[in-house]
Amino acid sequence: MFEPKMMKLMQRVSFLRIHGDDDFKIIDYYQTCGFKLEIGVNPSSEQGFGSTVWEAALGLCQYFEEEGIRFSEKKVIELGAGTGIVSILAALLGGNVTITDKPELLNRIERNVSFNIPSSFKPQVKVRALRWGLDNSLFPSDYDYILCSDIMYFHDSIPSILETLLHLSNEKTTIYFASNLSYGMNLTRQGHVTLSQYFQTELVCRYNVEDVNVYRMRLNTPSTLQLHNS
Ligand SMILES: C[S@@+](CC[C@H](N)C(=O)[O-])C[C@H]1O[C@@H](n2cnc3c(N)ncnc32)[C@H](O)[C@@H]1O
Repeated sequence: MFEPKMMKLMQRVSFLRIHGDDDFKIIDYYQTCGFKLEIGVNPSSEQGFGSTVWEAALGLCQYFEEEGIRFSEKKVIELGAGTGIVSILAALLGGNVTITDKPELLNRIERNVSFNIPSSFKPQVKVRALRWGLDNSLFPSDYDYILCSDIMYFHDSIPSILETLLHLSNEKTTIYFASNLSYGMNLTRQGHVTLSQYFQTELVCRYNVEDVNVYRMRLNTPSTLQLHNS
């Protein structure tokens, strides 16, 4: 059983304001898992939520560091990657990573990838448009890991997130799903209750101060459902 973490989440170690463009107005620097990450953000971008780094992304990065998680030669996909910070870390930790978000977010992600991923690692990283529920069929169902952080904050998106997770996963897939539970009148909490009807869901880490939970999920199979119902 884990202990809820009372400490604060990892913070950026420094930042630089730049006269950039709509992708980048600030470069944030983070130190995690032995890597210094350089993430360009624009908190005032009209592209909305994916233009900055959210607490749950920091929680997931910190969880990977604390647990010594590695993705060597594993096939990884991230949904709603925003700036790409979690996927960039997963690629540096050895994963073959597909970073996804809505089409208009991909340029910033590509640029953040080029800041952080050495050219020898580049073939391991793909950046692709995946709109939940719409583009599922363009992606296979054989991922070892699916990563999600702070993507469940609109009630209407929960069915399409569920549909996409069900399409991408098989019984061997591990999903790490980090959420800040403070949003939208329990909406995020209810979303996790919905997902837990389809996936075995374990709360593996909690950062109390920022109200961030990290869940590990696996697709329910007939045998796990039987265990659950007995
Ligand atoms: C709150 S941000 C979180 C970004 C990043 N995961 C993080 O934690 O920093 C939510 C992300 O989900 C993406 N998103 C929202 N609706 C989407 C949809 N229907 N299909 C794909 N991505 C979507 C947004 O573009 C945004 O990047």
